Amino acid sequence: MPYMSLNEKPIGVFDSGFGGLTVLYKLVEVLPKEDFIYFGDTAHLPYGTKSPREIKRFVVKIIDFFKSLKVKLVVVACNSSSAVALQEVRKRVNVPVVGVIEPAVRAALKNTKSRRIGVIGTEVTVKSNAYKIAFSSANHNIKIFQKACPLFVPLVEEGLLDKEFTHSIVRYYLDELKKMSIDQLVLGCTHYPLLKKVIREVIGDEVELVDSSVEISKEVSSALETKNIKNIQKYDGYRKFFVSGSPSRFQQRANKLFDFKIDEVKQVKL
Ligand code: DGL
Repeated sequence: MPYMSLNEKPIGVFDSGFGGLTVLYKLVEVLPKEDFIYFGDTAHLPYGTKSPREIKRFVVKIIDFFKSLKVKLVVVACNSSSAVALQEVRKRVNVPVVGVIEPAVRAALKNTKSRRIGVIGTEVTVKSNAYKIAFSSANHNIKIFQKACPLFVPLVEEGLLDKEFTHSIVRYYLDELKKMSIDQLVLGCTHYPLLKKVIREVIGDEVELVDSSVEISKEVSSALETKNIKNIQKYDGYRKFFVSGSPSRFQQRANKLFDFKIDEVKQVKL
């Protein structure tokens, strides 16, 4: 194998399914010269209803896979994994690791005026209190209202983004939060930006929806700068896709939901 400098190595991005593609999409826009490896652990989806122990077990295998591909940076594009397994990831690699929670917290704090912030996420994310902890260590003067929305991930994975029952389900989960006078709503699961339209309709225009992908891209970009490992190739980078479940299902669904075309998805058994 020819010698490859760290700059030329790919960035590894993972999620349980295609929620992390909402993050990858932004990363490609901001860092077009970088090569990306995406892994969706579709055989174990959803993560949100699993125990922290199980999630850690899956994540360790994904990280070992990324290590075998010599990635230069890892993006944990999954709130559930960031909430319960970020330390585990950091222990296993000696490259920079970017999670999704801190960037979302930063974005919400920048924008809030009322200091009343809503967070929606999977059951494991909400139970872990990772957001509450991150908010209170950044600013004590913030009131957080959390709500787990376990039906959102299956709706997104099935591509049911704008059905009548999608509206009813979103209303069912967000009704309580609507009464809390929040001015920011953190989309604390990378699948949720795909439901933005319905969430916006239900929660109203006064509440800002915080999608962490912009802040994550900034953080990845600055980590690459700091370590001096930016890819400076002339051409746009590649994106390679791997899943643990069915590749054709992932490919079809993702191509329907996202603008970029995924030509090939490979299955890896971890
Ligand atoms: N997209 C992930 C998250 O951000 C995981 C969703 C799931 O598998 O439950 O939490």
